[in-house]
Amino acid sequence: MSTEKVIDAKKQGNALITEHKEENNKKLYIENYGCQMNFNDSEIVASILSEQGYNTTEHMEDADLVLVNTCSIREKAELTVRKRLEKFNAVKKINPTMKVGVLGCMAERLKAKFLEEEKIVDLVVGPDAYRDIPNLLAEVNEGRDAVNVILSKDETYGDVSPVRLNTNGVSAFVSITRGCDNMCTFCVVPFTRGRERSRDPQSILEEIQQLADKNYKEITLLGQNVDSYLWYGGGLKKDFKKASEIAKATAVDFAQLLDMAATRFPKMRFRFSTSNPQDMSIDVLHAMAKHENICKYIHLPIQSGSDNMLKIMNRQHTRKEYMELIDNVREIIPGCAISQDMIVGFCGETEEDHQDTLSLMEYVKYDYGFMFAYSERPGTLAEKKLEDDVPNDVKKRRLSEVINLQRALSLEKTQAFIGQKVEVLIEGNSKKSDQHWMGRNTQNYAVVFPKTDEQVGDFVMVEIEDCTSATLIGKAVK
Ligand code: SAH
Ligand code: F3S
Repeated sequence: MSTEKVIDAKKQGNALITEHKEENNKKLYIENYGCQMNFNDSEIVASILSEQGYNTTEHMEDADLVLVNTCSIREKAELTVRKRLEKFNAVKKINPTMKVGVLGCMAERLKAKFLEEEKIVDLVVGPDAYRDIPNLLAEVNEGRDAVNVILSKDETYGDVSPVRLNTNGVSAFVSITRGCDNMCTFCVVPFTRGRERSRDPQSILEEIQQLADKNYKEITLLGQNVDSYLWYGGGLKKDFKKASEIAKATAVDFAQLLDMAATRFPKMRFRFSTSNPQDMSIDVLHAMAKHENICKYIHLPIQSGSDNMLKIMNRQHTRKEYMELIDNVREIIPGCAISQDMIVGFCGETEEDHQDTLSLMEYVKYDYGFMFAYSERPGTLAEKKLEDDVPNDVKKRRLSEVINLQRALSLEKTQAFIGQKVEVLIEGNSKKSDQHWMGRNTQNYAVVFPKTDEQVGDFVMVEIEDCTSATLIGKAVK
């Protein structure tokens, strides 16, 4: 179990590549850090630049343009990018004409300061300004500074068809919302990704249609907070109250969007991420129960099991409300997997608060989780108003307790699959051996089994014979 959120199938911090377009003659090297949203944003940027004559390359040394899509969520994520920029500096000595751009959350957070602090950087572009990259490149070529970090009320890139990077041809991301209005006191995202807005359901369904036409089999609907999805003709979520009566009456929420997508594309598997407990409705659970093709898996971050902590984190629910939601999931969707995000050592966290986290984990019996030590982020309410007072060694100890408990819970879950037959969508070779396939079952467990006559993209039944705490191991059965 890792303490860092990593994207399994889509590599972090490696060159992202796509098919070659004959007419394109410029070379783009793009590297991605952070969440799935960032990955999908890199696909949007690659699409915008493909129209400008750029093909992706794996080799930074040959690139005309080097882009790094960054993450600010914890200090470590930012330090990793700073280190990478040193490497870019070295490459620039071999390839002096290459231009370097910083995208994503660090760009938004640091703005023009980036140009001063990192001499290698030529352009700085925030998450809502990617359409402006061609203009910014023209500015750079004329020797001017190029920074656009304007956050938008309505940008969803709904009309941009992302080019699929490092694709397995089976699973793809489709963004449905951008930004976040929640203002959790520890979190930098509302500042770097702006206010929440939803994308037109028609453009979402069209993108899914394009993926279905290309034989994709699984789609993950993405947003910081997908359950808060609300389309009422465009505009910020917070302005919904001001919308006309007709707009309100015809609005589409997340449960309806899921139902529409699952009904229109019965052969496509659907996943979604991330769900915020405060916004997850019973209707969403019923939509999941109704449709076989909506995977039985919910990523449901809680951050802490203590009501004191939830309150000062500004999470909009209590421990009891969260437990009731879990009870509803168990009742409405039997066999549904649930995963968590947890932060240990937040400001003022006592030993008792920590015990509350451990006992909540025991109650939920999470399938897996992403666990972090609190990292203070500049500009957040916690940084301004609260003291980061849990010593590092205590954070470390609590983190390892949480990770160890999760590992034990995960092992219990995977062991329960032994002897069962599960349906698996094959994504590609297993990491360890090209004699084995790796795919996922509906609960999002990685399943590894020896190849017989299957192909990538096939759904197969696998009988589970063995497991680790993260992987099911078995054999295909007819
Ligand atoms: N939208 C998601 C969270 C997105 S950020 C939600 O609904 O909760 C992904 C995860 O990073 C968070 O769930 C949290 O566990 C972690 N995180 C965010 N800010 C952090 C910080 N300052 N220190 C440590 N972990 C943090
Ligand atoms: Fe961050 Fe909370 Fe939104 S964790 S992304 S402010 S839901």
